[in-house]
Amino acid sequence: MIVLGIETSCDDSAVGLYDTGRKVLASVLAAQLEHAPYGGVVPELASRVHLRNLPPVLRSALDGAGLDPGNLDAVAVTQGPGLMGSLLVGLAFARALGHAWDRPVVGVHHIESHILANHLERDMVFPALVLVASGGHSQIVLARRPGDYALLATTRDDAAGEAFDKVAKVLGLGFPGGPRIEERARRGDPEAIAFPVARLGDGGLDFSFSGLKTAARIRWEERPPAGEAGLDDFCASFQRAVVAQLLDRVLRAVRGRDVQALYLAGGVAANRTLLAAAREALDPLGLPVFAPSPRYCTDNGAMVACAAALRLEADPAPAPPDQPFPRGAIASWR
Ligand SMILES: Nc1ncnc2c1ncn2[C@@H]1O[C@H](COP(=O)(O)OP(=O)(O)OP(=O)(O)O)[C@@H](O)[C@H]1O
Ligand SMILES: [Mg+2]
Repeated sequence: MIVLGIETSCDDSAVGLYDTGRKVLASVLAAQLEHAPYGGVVPELASRVHLRNLPPVLRSALDGAGLDPGNLDAVAVTQGPGLMGSLLVGLAFARALGHAWDRPVVGVHHIESHILANHLERDMVFPALVLVASGGHSQIVLARRPGDYALLATTRDDAAGEAFDKVAKVLGLGFPGGPRIEERARRGDPEAIAFPVARLGDGGLDFSFSGLKTAARIRWEERPPAGEAGLDDFCASFQRAVVAQLLDRVLRAVRGRDVQALYLAGGVAANRTLLAAAREALDPLGLPVFAPSPRYCTDNGAMVACAAALRLEADPAPAPPDQPFPRGAIASWR
């Protein structure tokens, strides 16, 4: 089965092709540089740029894979959560293609597609624990099998990726902050500054990154790091505090649960220091840790196609997507 996936939940216009036998056939993305002068994503501008970007991105994905619409079994699209206008453009585009090509259209939850991005390069094993850390989400999900999920933890305030982005802004490192902080952290001393690792009073598994973000800002204002080496130490210490919190929750979530593996998902999963630390922490428990290649951790169309293909294998005629949804937790479909 070959599925075309369209992803427009935020500011990347992405199209991917996934074959259940051969895995990823294409993954093409047009990043929107138009937002740079505004210091953040401007929702209406994002919708307009998707409208312009999607046709050439689609063409490039099909040409790159040497396919034409006749080879496709279904069209998949991110239905939510995300920016309403951006989702509407993607959904309208997918429905138009489905109509023109006479193919079913499958709506996919954005967080489900981030999780199932782990299936793009090697088959996933279930039941699994998934740490989702992205620009808008920090969650722990128990994935019993594709389509069967339980949300175990979420964030009380900021997401992990958001904390990376906001602290990078304070440090003058630009956007997106995660990769820039990770790059500098490689050269820095993670023990230079003892940033706080939040623990909630109720002993629950939820995350909280706003205290760490504020601590980083105050430290920056009161005792700015000296020179490049000081900045590298700052980044390494901040990153260590984020990783420590993520793994504190994962280790507690894994206890007493019969899972086969831990998967990392979402943009922050591109952070190879996080992956290495997770492997070190879970090795004594005999639990393998996997993450997609960095290009499949951040938003892409291949993960949308893959999530829809896994759904179609179990549920051959899902209801076609009607409206996009800007918010909403991951839901099970079986
Ligand atoms: N190497 C990295 N280390 C840490 N964070 C990273 C890295 N690479 C990307 N990120 C972060 O990942 C986020 C982008 O991920 P993603 O594309 O999944 O987010 P999003 O789609 O905007 O949000 P969501 O998926 O929650 O709707 C950004 O916050 C970015 O800073
Ligand atoms: Mg995303």
